[in-house]
Amino acid sequence: MRRKLAAGNWKMNGLAPAMNEADALQAAHRNTDIDILLCPPATLLHRLSGRLAGSPIATGGQDCHPAESGAHTGDISAAMLVDAGATHVILGHSERREDHGESSEDVRAKARIAIEAGLTAVICVGESETQRDAANTLDIIAGQLAGSIPDIANASNLVIAYEPIWAIGTGKVPTLDQIGEVHDFIRARLERRFGEGVGLSTRILYGGSVKPDNATDIFEVSNVDGALVGGASLKAVDFSLIIKALEAAGKH
Ligand code: PGA
Repeated sequence: MRRKLAAGNWKMNGLAPAMNEADALQAAHRNTDIDILLCPPATLLHRLSGRLAGSPIATGGQDCHPAESGAHTGDISAAMLVDAGATHVILGHSERREDHGESSEDVRAKARIAIEAGLTAVICVGESETQRDAANTLDIIAGQLAGSIPDIANASNLVIAYEPIWAIGTGKVPTLDQIGEVHDFIRARLERRFGEGVGLSTRILYGGSVKPDNATDIFEVSNVDGALVGGASLKAVDFSLIIKALEAAGKH
């Protein structure tokens, strides 16, 4: 019922030669029954979107400003992302929440304007290691979900990514039970807020040190509809193996 999604987040990585990785990925995935998304740095977005036109690989931004346009030096609007060929935008990534002090209210305002511009908002939530140690994980996730998701969200313009901060770029991964607990909890919260229809059809991705060698296990966890992949999305060979693991998930 929910179409799976493999999303790559290149973060602040990628110069012109990164196009070769995109070409290799495209060559390896001309046909697929899942959704594939690449979110390059803004400087590559237009080029990458053009290069991937006609392929099943969509492109997205990594952030947008909550205003439509105006005097915001250095910022990028949702409409600019659309203009550059994006169909998605990652919002509220923990690196933005930390490096730029973004609150859940900020994320909600960004998500609202992104959705109004026609983008799908990939909203990230996740606890720190201290919060997990203090057994606060579900409270933190509940607060971030309630604060970050705008009322206009629905299953076709919203994707949630659960990314425990301590698992991002560290090689540390939660146990499958821990992932399942949070994903089930997010599903229940979405159903409670938006009703069963939207709640059951909104995709929930796991992110944080997803690699070719752990992807298969993670994709078998209940309510994991795909992955948001950082480091391993930079190399086509690695991301491709993760995509194949997702294609195979639930088929045996
Ligand atoms: P990682 O990053 O796969 O390098 O841990 C994931 C993310 O931050 O989206």
